[in-house]
Amino acid sequence: MMQKEIIWRCPSNIALVKYWGKKENQIPCNASLSLTLNHSFTEVSLTLDEKKEKGIELQYFFHEQPNEHFQKRILRYLEQNEGSFDILKDYSITIHSTNSFPHSAGIASSASSFGAIALALLSASEQQDENFYEEASNLARLGSGSACRSMYGPYALWGKLPQVSQSSDEFAIPILDIHPNFHDMQDAILIVDDSVKKVSSSAGHALMKGHPYADARFLQANQHCIEMLNVLAKGEYEQFITIIEQEALALHAMMMTSNQYFLLMKPGTIHAIEKIMEFRKETGTPIAFTLDAGPNVHVLYPGKDKLQVQDFLESELKGSIKEIIYDNAGTGPVKISG
Ligand code: DP6
Repeated sequence: MMQKEIIWRCPSNIALVKYWGKKENQIPCNASLSLTLNHSFTEVSLTLDEKKEKGIELQYFFHEQPNEHFQKRILRYLEQNEGSFDILKDYSITIHSTNSFPHSAGIASSASSFGAIALALLSASEQQDENFYEEASNLARLGSGSACRSMYGPYALWGKLPQVSQSSDEFAIPILDIHPNFHDMQDAILIVDDSVKKVSSSAGHALMKGHPYADARFLQANQHCIEMLNVLAKGEYEQFITIIEQEALALHAMMMTSNQYFLLMKPGTIHAIEKIMEFRKETGTPIAFTLDAGPNVHVLYPGKDKLQVQDFLESELKGSIKEIIYDNAGTGPVKISG
């Protein structure tokens, strides 16, 4: 039999408005909105072979090594969604996955990985139609919620909002009305700490169940999404900064007040945040921070201020952190072969 190799590259994304809290079947409790990255991606190669046994046959390699943990998670994903991937009936599949960025770097690897896996599996199947990316987004979501937003760049929205007609809880949609001020956003990722996450995303989302502030938080996030759509269309830096910083701190506030509670910021996180705010005040540069569920800091700023900001980060912050990874807004997944 001819071996068919399909290769997809899918970027990670950083949420500007955070997804934190989900219902059954990976349905989010609120809408979220993200910036798609460019250099931080997962590349997945999928090969199909003749099947020897009944049931799903998967061989999984991460950076050329078998990886039991990921193998199990992906097998579970395939079992749960077998009906959506017709190739699983007829073929044994081998997946080779590599990330362009270091592990535990505060870059969502589950977003880029499940994005790339969903794209590769879907493009190998015969069921493709003109809604390919929508379907891939839906299937990526079932692997990891934030993955559904990686299908589009530079900005994507996930979650049903009555004010946005095409929006859905099942897949992300691209945000098309973007002012030139936001065309070339940069994201410098400050690695404050690269140890493994203290709380997995799934455990984190579960903490929103019965959280005393849950309803207020979901409302705030939905409102922030609507405001952010307007901010991105109008090019308003000041509002952009306010929303994303409020979102980052609200996410951590949720973690700090849940039962069990988590304090995921490190002294280096606070130090970086204070320096960023100081620099903004002194120079008027529209630079802002955001955080994921961890201690590392994403610094966002427009391309026009790249040199000045990089100079500031290298001279003022490099010494107190482990590493800086420079990334910027990307345009979404790319099919490399197949
Ligand atoms: C804090 O998408 O990783 O990064 O659906 O359980 O896989 P699962 O969760 P995941 O959660 C991401 C949470 C976040 C915020 C965000 O990306 O919106």
